[in-house]
Amino acid sequence: MEKITVIGAGYVGLTSAVLLANCGYRVTLLEINKQRLDSVKSGRSFFYEHGVDELLQSALNTKKLTPTDSAAHAFRSADIVFSCVGTPDNPDGSSNLSYVFGVAKEAIKYAKDGLVFVQKSTVPVGTGKKIEKLFKANSRKFTYVSNPEFLREGTAIQDSLFFDRVVAGSSNKPAATRVLDIYKTLDEKCLELAKIVKVDANIKNGGSYIQTDLNSAELIKVTANAFLALKISFANSIAKLADHAGANVNDVMDAVGADKRIGREFLNAGRGYGGGCFPKDVSGLISSAAEYSVDMPIMTAATEVNDSMPGYIANRAQEILGTLQDKKIAVLGLSFKAGTSDARKSPGVKMANLLSKAGAVVSAYDPHANGEAKEDLRDNIRVCQSALEAADGADAIFITTAWPEFREMDMHQLKSVMSGILIYDADNALDRSEVEKEGLRFVGVGIQ
Ligand code: UGA
Repeated sequence: MEKITVIGAGYVGLTSAVLLANCGYRVTLLEINKQRLDSVKSGRSFFYEHGVDELLQSALNTKKLTPTDSAAHAFRSADIVFSCVGTPDNPDGSSNLSYVFGVAKEAIKYAKDGLVFVQKSTVPVGTGKKIEKLFKANSRKFTYVSNPEFLREGTAIQDSLFFDRVVAGSSNKPAATRVLDIYKTLDEKCLELAKIVKVDANIKNGGSYIQTDLNSAELIKVTANAFLALKISFANSIAKLADHAGANVNDVMDAVGADKRIGREFLNAGRGYGGGCFPKDVSGLISSAAEYSVDMPIMTAATEVNDSMPGYIANRAQEILGTLQDKKIAVLGLSFKAGTSDARKSPGVKMANLLSKAGAVVSAYDPHANGEAKEDLRDNIRVCQSALEAADGADAIFITTAWPEFREMDMHQLKSVMSGILIYDADNALDRSEVEKEGLRFVGVGIQ
């Protein structure tokens, strides 16, 4: 079996590493952040993601996974390298590729000829060609494959085991085939692995294996994310109209999404999208298109709609409450979505800060993201240890992340600790009748 090295123990890297190690591959995982490396070595990922810790512990027990901070060791031992480092956005919205090129340079320094260099990080179209040139200029005989990642945080293992498609793009077809073969091994093991992590194993896989040229593979990834972001902003635009006209955006999208050409997924209106992917991938697409002198007004509009959502929700709350000044407000949900501790570009954090800036006295709580959100929250926002603690004495509660814990909240108990009655469901997560039955006032996004 191929010897695999994974660079970066982030969401994508660690998930890939533990899955491949549990498929029987010898995997070396390079992580240069000492705290993260220590955490991985101890069998715990530094983020919350269902199933990852179980697979990590089993990979460490069988010694199929070797975490290290030695680049020399990690690259020298590899037949195939999967590069999974971050591509944060620059202040101008373009992608910061310094880590991506840093990995390529380390490969040049340490890896043996014949290496297959697999790019899993999301990069602008044209990046792979630049890296190929760099390898050539340094007389290294590597082959480069773009293998974009489609997993979602919160369902990373499930998405990886039961994938819709795997894409490998390269000018070297045999190298792309070698990469796809690794996923076929994963596919063969998927039911066994699903059992370990207790994810729904009844889902039939049937994912497709797609080989393309290098540039197309890179463009597939950003196009997929941009289109999903577009769907969300489209739903939010219709939600605003539904609020004004008196319609229910959920009913509208249920019927519209029943058309197979459209599909229901990612048409859920709410406080907008956040996280480490959509905001930066959309701005990255706009800026990479600009480099080729191509305008992307459709994506600029998607960004504008998304950016408007927290303010739109806060304004509506102000209309209902009369003023936000000195109102006690609980914001429940600080992760950018349910199922993860990730609070990067979190709409819940944005909402909390916005309400606080408008003069409200804000308490916030998240079942998993209190720690990660804290540094982005304004200093005067109180971070609480439970939903009830945050709700104590509140004039209004904002649900900003659809965690099951919030969906299942005992509304009677909640009302008994609140001083007001407004429940603003900013992620359209709750059952309206459950809220209203207790005499609380329900307001959703585009829901009348
Ligand atoms: C996204 C893509 O869905 C993955 O396919 C991709 O691999 C990943 O980015 C990436 O590029 O690494 P992720 O950011 O983990 O995954 O999360 P999503 O489930 O896509 O949600 C993104 C945001 O959109 C969240 O804030 C979520 O609350 C919001 N959202 C999602 C909505 O507001 N409405 C929806 O209908 C769906």
